[in-house]
Amino acid sequence: MILTTSFRIPSIIHYGTGALGELGATGQELGFTRVLLVTDASIVKLGVAGQAQALLEKAGIGVTLFDQVQPDPTLQNVEDGLAALRAGNCDGIVAVGGGSSIDCAKGISVRLKNPEPLPDFTGVEKIPRAGLDVIAVPTTAGTGSEVTRVMVITDSGRDVKMMFVSRHCLCAAAIVDPALTLSMPRLLTAAVGVDALCHAIEAYVSKRAQPMTDLLALSAIRLIAPNLQTACDDGQNLRAREAVMLGAMQAGMAFSNSSVALVHGMARPLGACFHLTHGLSIAVLLPVVTDFSLPAAPERYARIAAEMGASEIVSALRQLNRDTGIPSLRALSVPADRYESLIEKMAADALASGSPANNPRSANAGEIAGLFRQAYEA
Ligand SMILES: NC(=O)c1ccc[n+]([C@@H]2O[C@H](COP(=O)([O-])OP(=O)(O)OC[C@H]3O[C@@H](n4cnc5c(N)ncnc54)[C@H](O)[C@@H]3O)[C@@H](O)[C@H]2O)c1
Ligand SMILES: [Fe+2]
Repeated sequence: MILTTSFRIPSIIHYGTGALGELGATGQELGFTRVLLVTDASIVKLGVAGQAQALLEKAGIGVTLFDQVQPDPTLQNVEDGLAALRAGNCDGIVAVGGGSSIDCAKGISVRLKNPEPLPDFTGVEKIPRAGLDVIAVPTTAGTGSEVTRVMVITDSGRDVKMMFVSRHCLCAAAIVDPALTLSMPRLLTAAVGVDALCHAIEAYVSKRAQPMTDLLALSAIRLIAPNLQTACDDGQNLRAREAVMLGAMQAGMAFSNSSVALVHGMARPLGACFHLTHGLSIAVLLPVVTDFSLPAAPERYARIAAEMGASEIVSALRQLNRDTGIPSLRALSVPADRYESLIEKMAADALASGSPANNPRSANAGEIAGLFRQAYEA
């Protein structure tokens, strides 16, 4: 039980279909004259990066484009972006894309003012100095990174997804426009949507849950659970997209001020070792880990099931995976022998991240290894 709580979110949030139109004015409000536009090649191809660039230029803000972000951004992506930011002499950063582009932008901002190697800062509130202001424009619904004080950067040399939690990883502004998610294909919609639902669930059952985060987590579950299926089946359904994106943002606010827990602790090493997307890594673990954690917080899990409109949570989560077309680890071509040989490393990395410590039921390395095995057989 924590006795005092704190709550941080960006001070400017524009939400709603058409919110992208606020980008120029938001850049002006933050005093930007020249920005680094951080994005990836697919977002450029979709035309969204060009749209953002045009809005910024119309507001008199110069743009240097950096479109080299890889899914699960690496330390190298951050260094390359930093070089582009310096070459462009930028005084602000705009990220347009999924969690990968937003996290890479946070990394570039932090590195500009903190010359020490980024890995030195993993963990909670280890970053000493504030970087440049970042405006985040998410195109997935999603990680919630636009409103979180969390950043995830991959150290590809060690196959480790490093997690940073710091007030200096909080964006100055978030522009959350559900219309930008209409182009997400079905599997991406499903995987990032289950990630968002997992943020809400873990925030609500976390040992660090607090009244403000409970409110947001329950609202997020109510918004995401009944609408994710529709967003998957009918990608052009703007009402469903709006509900899921609002839920994803609320879930981000919730977990950023509470925490994630065992599912996320295990998903990061799974994703890093087998190059699975974050959302898929979460989705394949969520039912099994929930089943393990349930006895430690039965009332909380029952409330989540009720908010989902289900009688029992584990079967509801399994059903959601089936209905939205989440593949199994086997179907994702994760080889059984390599998986088994990496279970010990994945369990150790999961514990080292600190997230499992917030789980309602504590788990040791042996139990985590057992859960990895169960997830493979599921
Ligand atoms: N900082 C945080 O709070 C936080 C929270 C959860 C996850 N994460 C991290 O975020 C990353 C994952 O982000 P993500 O799941 O949003 O995906 P992503 O940013 O990695 O994007 C995945 C792919 O989808 C494409 N894409 C994005 N938006 C699209 C759209 N509207 N239409 C079509 N294609 C689109 C991208 O171009 C990319 O190819 C992981 O590294 C994860 O660890 C961060
Ligand atoms: Fe996540």
